[in-house]
Amino acid sequence: MAHWTSAVGAAQLARLLNSQQDRPAGPGSRRPPAYRALADGIRLLVLEGRVPVAARLPAERELALALSVSRTTVAAAYEALRTEGFLGSRRGAGSWTAVPAGNPLPARGLEPLPPEALGSMIDLGCAALPAPEPWLTRATQGALEELPPYAHTHGDYPAGLPALRAMLAERYTARGVPTMPEQIMVTTGAMGAIDAICHLFAGRGERIAVESPSYANILQLMREAGARLVPVAMSEGLGGWDLDRWRQVLREAAPRLAYVVADFHNPTGALADEDQRRRLVDTARSAGTVLIVDETMSELYLEDGMEMPRRVCAFDPAGSTVITVGSASKAFWAGLRIGWVRAAPDVIRSLVAARAYADLGTPVLEQLAVNWLLSTGGWEQAVELRRAQARENRDALVAAVRRELPAWEFSVPQGGLTLWVRTGGLSGSRLAVAGERVGVRVPSGPRFGVDGAFEGYVRLPFTVSGAVAEEAAVRLAAAARLVETGVPGPVEDPRTFVA
Ligand SMILES: Cc1ncc(COP(=O)(O)O)c(C=O)c1O
Repeated sequence: MAHWTSAVGAAQLARLLNSQQDRPAGPGSRRPPAYRALADGIRLLVLEGRVPVAARLPAERELALALSVSRTTVAAAYEALRTEGFLGSRRGAGSWTAVPAGNPLPARGLEPLPPEALGSMIDLGCAALPAPEPWLTRATQGALEELPPYAHTHGDYPAGLPALRAMLAERYTARGVPTMPEQIMVTTGAMGAIDAICHLFAGRGERIAVESPSYANILQLMREAGARLVPVAMSEGLGGWDLDRWRQVLREAAPRLAYVVADFHNPTGALADEDQRRRLVDTARSAGTVLIVDETMSELYLEDGMEMPRRVCAFDPAGSTVITVGSASKAFWAGLRIGWVRAAPDVIRSLVAARAYADLGTPVLEQLAVNWLLSTGGWEQAVELRRAQARENRDALVAAVRRELPAWEFSVPQGGLTLWVRTGGLSGSRLAVAGERVGVRVPSGPRFGVDGAFEGYVRLPFTVSGAVAEEAAVRLAAAARLVETGVPGPVEDPRTFVA
């Protein structure tokens, strides 16, 4: 029986490992022996979820060749990983990645920390805020009151509740994009929406153009759907989309789909202006590429009196090029798991039909809660609370990082929930591991890249403020010192961390 469920090739593993290089170590730093550095590198990739658990590793000889090291070095590294529980192997079946019992799973930084770790670990893994109470409670009560007529039905609404579809359509129309309820499908979060779109449009081996960097979980979703990701580099700072580059990539690669986050891009926070939006749509149209526009962050503009540019779908009146994805997760609360798609009616029909073989529908009660919020004006008030919180968090984090880590560079975005930080030449992967040791969980840059790009970055979300933001920056500075002195050794379980 095979013990592995996927495989990582020698060239691919070498590329991932080479991308972890730090700047040269400073005086006083300790360099580990070559086999140890290799074992640590592989362990890091596994812990970060960049090489899956139960992935078959290349044979020693192949990896030695790809890395230009001796076979003895690879053999010793594999042996060390085996002893530490990060590698399983059996004669004839090869070696596969593993995670030792008791170690935190290769968290994609998603699960909230267990209660016993709270208070000791500062979690900067997830760019999402707690519910803006009292609105969650009110919306849930409102939903319960609306429930009785639905309780008499079988409860499966594969396109979403008619009332919510109509409400969402009305909101697009009110913002200058005429939309019928038939153009809306309610999904299980934006993730559910994009999963459905990828399955409908991009079979295995199909190309999808993505911003580079881009939102980590969507990249992983696309990889797992078998897509080949075609990265299109974002410009430095908040400039975002270089349309000449987009034109070239779309013309050369002719991808079936392209995925963009034009409103407060995750992770960079960039906001596309109207000219970039128009040109993105024109470029995609002439390349025959369907453009998925993820508007998850669109309501989180944080500057007073800020005018948002027109929606990307406004530049596609025929509705043939753009598929828009929305979500209640950032504007309201991720725990509801409500998202939606706006597309041409025939695309919606196909998505709905395909759903019969996926999740069948989205929970009724949560849809009613969102509908209650949208129809009572509670949504606007809740989003206002959200913005105030995100603004306060952003300003606190920016000030604290500037103070504690003056060599780290970033542009302060006008909205969204993320700060994309260049870490002064330090490896983001190593910072992530060192962070776990000093009590701050932070996702490294390569999680947001394709094939190991962005090793010199981390993403910091606007999820903490005040003294916690300050302490987060102090711990990040401690992690940076650990990385600079070449220390990160065995990873501690954050659940046992005591501050
Ligand atoms: C750009 C982007 N898209 C999608 C998601 C996930 O959205 P949902 O919770 O609606 O699935 C996120 C969450 O961080 C995001 O930042």
